[in-house]
Amino acid sequence: MSQDLPKMSTRILKVWEGELGKFKEGENQEKLGLWEVSQIDSPGIKSLHEAADYLKTKDTPVGFPTETVYGLGADATRSAAVKGIYAAKGRPSDNPLIIHIADLEMLQNLLAPATENTTNNITDTTTDTSHDRIPEIYKPLIEKFWPGPLTILLPNPTPSKLAPEVTAGLKTFGVRMPKSPFALSLIKLTGAPLAAPSANASTKPSPTTAQHVLEDLNGRIELILDGGPCLVGVESTVVDGLCDPPVILRPGGVSIDELRSCAGWEKVEEAYEDESELGKSAPRAPGMKYKHYSPKAKVVLYEARFPYGKDGVMPQEIDGMIRNELTLFKTSGGLHKTSLQIGVIRTRHWKLGAGLYCGDFKTRETVKTDAGQDSQETIELDVQEADLYPSKGPKIGRLMDVSIGEDTRSIAQGLFSALRELDRRGARVIFVEGILDDEDIGAAVMNRLRKAASTIKS
Ligand code: TXA
Ligand code: MG
Repeated sequence: MSQDLPKMSTRILKVWEGELGKFKEGENQEKLGLWEVSQIDSPGIKSLHEAADYLKTKDTPVGFPTETVYGLGADATRSAAVKGIYAAKGRPSDNPLIIHIADLEMLQNLLAPATENTTNNITDTTTDTSHDRIPEIYKPLIEKFWPGPLTILLPNPTPSKLAPEVTAGLKTFGVRMPKSPFALSLIKLTGAPLAAPSANASTKPSPTTAQHVLEDLNGRIELILDGGPCLVGVESTVVDGLCDPPVILRPGGVSIDELRSCAGWEKVEEAYEDESELGKSAPRAPGMKYKHYSPKAKVVLYEARFPYGKDGVMPQEIDGMIRNELTLFKTSGGLHKTSLQIGVIRTRHWKLGAGLYCGDFKTRETVKTDAGQDSQETIELDVQEADLYPSKGPKIGRLMDVSIGEDTRSIAQGLFSALRELDRRGARVIFVEGILDDEDIGAAVMNRLRKAASTIKS
């Protein structure tokens, strides 16, 4: 990450739901046409105003909640502001950013070319937005999945109102209407679409709480809006409907089956690179590892089709790997400083501690994240710890076990949190129990895990 940014002090502003706004209804009012921010004078609205005023004038991005993951937002029409995202994140600038809009009016405005007598202002009324420029192929998706975790690619007009840095030189831009009312109201108050990648440091797992954003970007940005934990937990699905057949560029919070149920999308194809669940190239050479979604710890992923033993897991298999790790750890002199910490993330079948020989799992701690005063939403991570004795030998370290649930949605929601929590507790290796790609949004979960893993067992 570049070191040339001046150190800033980072503040977290709490926003909470209540009435933040709603889509305007009434005669002739198109569904999702216009998002209206609430006029109520609440602390949440005040914080949103403060953040929006900041985004209008400053070139440093703001961390904000969406329903997928936290975003690092900047005015997508101002080059200096967009450059600020790449600088804060340490992200290569050849990777295009997703644009977030509050309503369809804002989208129509983006699809119309900028004329010479207009400024970049997106709420500008001199632009002709009277006719519909959204390609028909996207209509059923917008109807069904917006606001929500779906990003669509659209042609970027020339001249465009978007800063060129957003699209990284491509002829299309990726756009979504987030579901989170925090995000919608922030965009609306800023009066411009927000370009926003996930608000993690480049290569780290995406952040699903304001605290995660702080861990990665403390001192590099000034404001983080805290809207509680993200409900989806993995990023949006990115689709391109401008080609035939349409394709999925990134699996995410909308599943392939959900897409296929829409007119024109029955034959949608997967066009992203992923290790197959049959693991053609596994185990992967460590040097080949993508640096993406990765905690500090090594991640060892077990595909759901891995031939486990009768009781759900094959302890000897992991046991051997832990022994190797112990040797490595001893050679590096690590054992003098601390004990070996091993993490396990379980989903559907593994037993507590993956069936390894452990002492009593006494220390039980629940890491709870609240979604703000008014909200019922909390995300709980049960972390259980025990002494670790491979093959009943002497104690060699600690095992930290996290179960993220059996349901695909709950696994997606807890995944990045669990990786980060085990990292925070000093895990050297994390063994993860994979799930099947074709169950709901399992493809998104497995795509992120395969990218995070240095070894895939299948
Ligand atoms: O859920 C999400 O999508 C989150 C939250 C913050 O909204 N955002 C996010 O943004 O994940 P980001 O910038 O990390 O993801 C950008 C990805 C790129 O890696 C690329 O795959 C795709 O979106 N993308 C964006 N614009 C594109 C374009 N014009 N052509 C092809 N792919 C594009
Ligand atoms: Mg990202």
